[in-house]
Order: sequence, then C-alpha cells, then structure tokens
Amino acid sequence: MTHEPLDTSGIDSVPFRGIVEQSVAGIYILQDEHFQYSNATFGAMAGYSVDEMTGRPLRECVPPYYEAEVMDRYNRRISGEVKSMRFITQGLHRDGHVVYIEVHGEAMQYRGRPAIVGVGVNVSAQVQRDAELQQSRQEYRQLASHLNSIREQQRADYAREVHDVLGGLLTSMKLDVGRITRRSRSRTIRGITADLNALLLEAIDNVRELSESMRPQLLDHLGLHAAIASHLARFRERSGLKVSMQPDEFDLDLCRWRSIAVYRIFQEALTNVARHAGATAVAVRLRRSDDAFWLEIEDNGCGMPGAGSIRHDATRHSLGLISMRERAHEIGGTLLIDSAPGAGTRITLHAPIIDNPLLRA
Ligand SMILES: Nc1ncnc2c1ncn2[C@@H]1O[C@H](COP(=O)(O)OP(=O)(O)O)[C@@H](O)[C@H]1O
Ligand SMILES: [Mg+2]
Repeated sequence: MTHEPLDTSGIDSVPFRGIVEQSVAGIYILQDEHFQYSNATFGAMAGYSVDEMTGRPLRECVPPYYEAEVMDRYNRRISGEVKSMRFITQGLHRDGHVVYIEVHGEAMQYRGRPAIVGVGVNVSAQVQRDAELQQSRQEYRQLASHLNSIREQQRADYAREVHDVLGGLLTSMKLDVGRITRRSRSRTIRGITADLNALLLEAIDNVRELSESMRPQLLDHLGLHAAIASHLARFRERSGLKVSMQPDEFDLDLCRWRSIAVYRIFQEALTNVARHAGATAVAVRLRRSDDAFWLEIEDNGCGMPGAGSIRHDATRHSLGLISMRERAHEIGGTLLIDSAPGAGTRITLHAPIIDNPLLRA
C-alpha cells in the first residue's frame, strides 16, 4: 500500500502555529537532515531555544554511537519506505547528557518536499526508573542466590556437627546403657534401661532425620529420585497422608547445587501441603525430555486462597513461595502454581537439564 504524503503547508498558518508552539508535547519538522522547525518544548528537551534549534543538523542532536540508527530511521521515512514510526530514541542534550524521547514521526510534504513531522515526549525519567528497577531486580536475584549458597553451606556444617557429635554421643550412651543392662540383675534397673534404650533409639533416629533434611546425603549417594522418594516416605509416616510417586525409576543427572535447589523446592512444597492444604493425598510426578525435566507436586486439599494471583502471594510476604520461585529461576527454570479454592494445588517445576553457567554469574 502506498501512502499519499500529507500536505503540511497549513502548519504555517497562524492559529495552527499557536497551538503547536504552546503544546506540552515536543513538535518538530525534519527536512534535509536538519530541524526546520521545533517548538519550545522539543527544543528544551535538548537544551536549546526555538531559534537555536531551527536549522540545527539532526546528527548534532544525537549521541555519536546512536547516529547510524537515527539516520537509518530518518532515511526510511524520507524515502517513503515507511510512512510512520513510533519508538523511543536517544537525544544529546547540549550539556552532553543523553535524553530519552518517545517519538512518533510521520513522513509528510513540507513546503512541497519530503519531510518528517514528529511529536516527542521526554521519557528519560521513566527509562531511568525502568533501568533502576531492572538493576535492582538483578541485584536482588544475585543476593537471593548468594544467601541460598551460604545457607546450604551452613546447613551442611550443622548437619555434620549434629550427625557426628550429637549422633556420636547418643551412640556411646546407647552402648553404655547396654553395658549397664548386661551387668545388672535388678529387674527395676533393666526396666529403666530398656526405656532409656528406646528413647535413645528414637533420639538417634531424630538426629539422623534432622541431619538428612539439613544436608541430604542421599542426594549425593543415590540421586534426586531416591532422595525425593525417601523424603516422601518419611512425610507419609509423619502426616498419615496417602502419597504416590511416579515413575518408580528416573534417570536425571543434575550437578549437586542444582539437585539441592530442586530438593529444597520439593521440601517446601510438601511442608506447605502439611501446613496449609488439609489434603488427604499427595502425588509426586517426575517427567523429562531430552533437555528439560518437570517435577509436579499435587495435593487434593483446599487450594490457595486468592489462587492464581502471584501478586497476592508477594503482598502477603509468602516467603516460601517466593523462595521456591527464586530457586527455580536460579537453575534456569520456572515454577507454575495451579490452584483453585476447593480444588487442590499443583506446583510444577520446569527446568532445563543442562547447566547454563551464565545463570550463575
Ligand atoms: N498446598 C497448599 N494448599 C493450600 N494453600 C497453600 C498451599 N501452599 C501454599 N498455600 C498458601 O499460600 C500461602 C503462602 O505459602 P508460603 O509462601 O509457603 O508461606 P507460609 O507457608 O510461610 O505461609 C500459605 O500461607 C497458604 O495460604
Ligand atoms: Mg510455606
């Protein structure tokens, strides 16, 4: 489709000029690569008066690194290839700083020859805010990831301490109780040591469980599938919920820090089921393709209040869900929450299998 260029000869008429000159939007006319006209608002964006702006070469008003792009856009409209364009461009203020201007410029006829008539609004503050927001989001992600790795290190230290020191002490006590039992003929004492022994066994079990949940050794030795299955089995014993897991075998070779991230997401999802869902059953499913995998945790509970709205979570400072999402992001994946009041909750982690080192920068 070809456009008949508009005739802007009326732009010079007195009432029209009045409107244009007083406009709060910047208005300009470009022809022969020069500003043939600029109203005060547009001139002020670059720090010039109307007189200073008139006749000024376009190239002088853009940062040098950006000149080629500006001239290309200019030529495409002057040649008639594109009639009108809307974009955010960069201008060079007379004092040397860059201004961001949102521009809508259209090819027209001005005094009988091709020109561009444009309207521009200074969006520097907005562009800067967006950049700052982007920057702070990135820093927040780096901080979250840094804190996670510190936390994992601390957990590993505590786990070792608890397992070796506390576990060691309990085991020695158990041996001593055994010696007392063997040496005593008193039924009363044997009764007491039997009770003591049962308590010690329970304590040893608890220590083992605590240390395993702080630093899942199974992850290292048997992999993600086994660690998840074992955690799920313990969850069933404690909660009495019906649990299922599919498939029975699953081949997924992730490096340690990535499998820890997946495991922590899984732990938090189960904790939430126990704490909030009022469910009677949990189903865990793992699935993979050549280069990605999915982990699903689905319960048949009450669903999330205000489900579907991510904002809802964030405003209520739901740190569990936020940290699950951050963990997913850390390994290049996403977390999907499917939930409706009364219809249960399904959490799906979807992540690539291949580690992308750039994500850890
Ligand atoms: N499986 C679930 N079933 C029902 N509600 C859930 C479930 N998981 C999370 N929620 C809801 O989402 C909220 C946020 O969860 P989370 O971020 O883990 O915070 P917290 O567990 O500390 O409350 C919970 O308070 C709960 O209302
Ligand atoms: Mg939680």
